[in-house]
Amino acid sequence: MNVPEPQAPHTVLTDFYTTSEARAGFVNRLFDNTARHYDRVSSLFSFGSDKRYRRMALQAAGMRPGFKLLDVATGTGLVLQAALDMGIPAEDLVGLDPSAGMLEENRRLHAVKLVQGVGEHLPFPEASFDFISMGYALRHVEDLGALFTEFRRVLKPGGRILILEISRPKSQFAFFLMKLYMGKLVPFITGLFTGQREVARLMEYYWATIAECVPPETILAAIRSAGFHDARRKLTGGILSDYTAVNGLTPTAVTPTPAC
Ligand SMILES: C[S@@+](CC[C@H](N)C(=O)[O-])C[C@H]1O[C@@H](n2cnc3c(N)ncnc32)[C@H](O)[C@@H]1O
Repeated sequence: MNVPEPQAPHTVLTDFYTTSEARAGFVNRLFDNTARHYDRVSSLFSFGSDKRYRRMALQAAGMRPGFKLLDVATGTGLVLQAALDMGIPAEDLVGLDPSAGMLEENRRLHAVKLVQGVGEHLPFPEASFDFISMGYALRHVEDLGALFTEFRRVLKPGGRILILEISRPKSQFAFFLMKLYMGKLVPFITGLFTGQREVARLMEYYWATIAECVPPETILAAIRSAGFHDARRKLTGGILSDYTAVNGLTPTAVTPTPAC
């Protein structure tokens, strides 16, 4: 049987870690060590639009009361908070993240079920959720194919996904400006503001993963090859990418043609 090659969202970033095997540990430590500053930093560099943006994106993607939502890479729970603000009951929400530090911070803020794990190996049975969200974390997974296959497995037929990402702008000039802002200014200001070099490092890494990420077409292709249909990307401000798709019917859910 042919096992597909893992599809990493970016190459090894040697300014931060040395081999692909070292990546996950590096990312985990980075988020563990900066968790208590994450919400303030997110608000700062999005000019306070972070919570409203997540809520509007969930609504636009079709999330509604009555749906069971899994928030993959939940972090401190900004997407979960957006769902709570929409009136989704806490018992219909589950958050998953590998970072113990981020989960601890999330637990302090939200009375929602939280599970430690990675998106590529979801510890849930098939067809458990109506909706899966993933906010600004796609760049941190090991394998896009494994991620979307897992999303499809745990989603009910007809279930939806919403993946929020920041993409590199198309124009060279916009890329240059964004590199200055996100690669230099944001790390400097957030480091100053929090007094933590590790927070500046997080923002430097954040930019490096955006700059090196595979293009949106590759992400859409990976979503489609996992069996999703109606995969789309909505682009706002030239950099905010909201990917949405619908889980096609699983083979077992298709009604067999009656024998003559
Ligand atoms: C930038 S934070 C995003 C948090 C939150 N979703 C938001 O919208 O602000 C990225 C999160 O991805 C998590 N993460 C890293 N690798 C992951 C993986 N393989 N699967 C799921 N989450 C992962 C990190 O621990 C971190 O909490």
